[in-house]
Amino acid sequence: MTGRLRLGVNIDHVATIRNARGGDHPDPARAARIAAAAGADGVTFHLREDRRHIRDEDLAAIAGAVSLPLNMEMAATEDMLAIALRHQPHAACLVPERRQERTTEGGLDAAGLHNEIAWIVRRLGEAGIRVSLFIEPDAKQIDAAKSLGAPVVELHTGAYCEAAAAGEKAKLERELEALRASAAYAAALGLEPHAGHGLTFDTVGPVAAIPELAELNIGHYLVGEAIFTGLEVAVREMRRRMDAARNLAPTGVAP
Ligand code: PXP
Repeated sequence: MTGRLRLGVNIDHVATIRNARGGDHPDPARAARIAAAAGADGVTFHLREDRRHIRDEDLAAIAGAVSLPLNMEMAATEDMLAIALRHQPHAACLVPERRQERTTEGGLDAAGLHNEIAWIVRRLGEAGIRVSLFIEPDAKQIDAAKSLGAPVVELHTGAYCEAAAAGEKAKLERELEALRASAAYAAALGLEPHAGHGLTFDTVGPVAAIPELAELNIGHYLVGEAIFTGLEVAVREMRRRMDAARNLAPTGVAP
């Protein structure tokens, strides 16, 4: 797949800032509206078991604020399934979740948990919700996603971004190669590969250039940048860099 790469803007950390003081400000639904106006192709949020950022009442507010496809990141539990079925997001991304972690650390072990998650992949799919599995860029995990019948895999870019931040060049190249090989392998199996986690203005280019990738989901860095430049400017700049990595004009039209 080549051409325009979709950008899903993750608005979790707008809610993190709101929750630091209680109350309603800043409003994640307003962030979703601004992201849409700035060129986002979708809005992503993670309803965590501990509700540390996005809360249940945000889901309807976000859905009411934008007409973009919504991508709900969630743990593979009965409670989360019931919420997803009630709200019918366009997509559900199954992620591993541990209460103590600061953010999603590592991908879902789709291979090891195959029989424990098959039911929820099936139930979401039957409800018409596009299932994505957030996995490490690893052939074994991609094979498991294929055998589970998930149409989408989201490749974890965390190790690549950590290597970039630490200036570890050899590791960065290895991680980038794993992302490239995994995107190609997933696409060859008929899966739609996405990627995300930890991406920044500096790290997005080489990932966006991977031709098989259809979508990136980016949140924390954009919300951080929004403090300095505003969310609209931050999203537009991320879009520009994604388009540039694919030699597309900023409008998404090839020059
Ligand atoms: N994709 C998935 C599956 C995630 O869990 C997250 C973090 O919530 C992201 C993408 C976005 O990561 P970041 O906020 O670091 O850009």
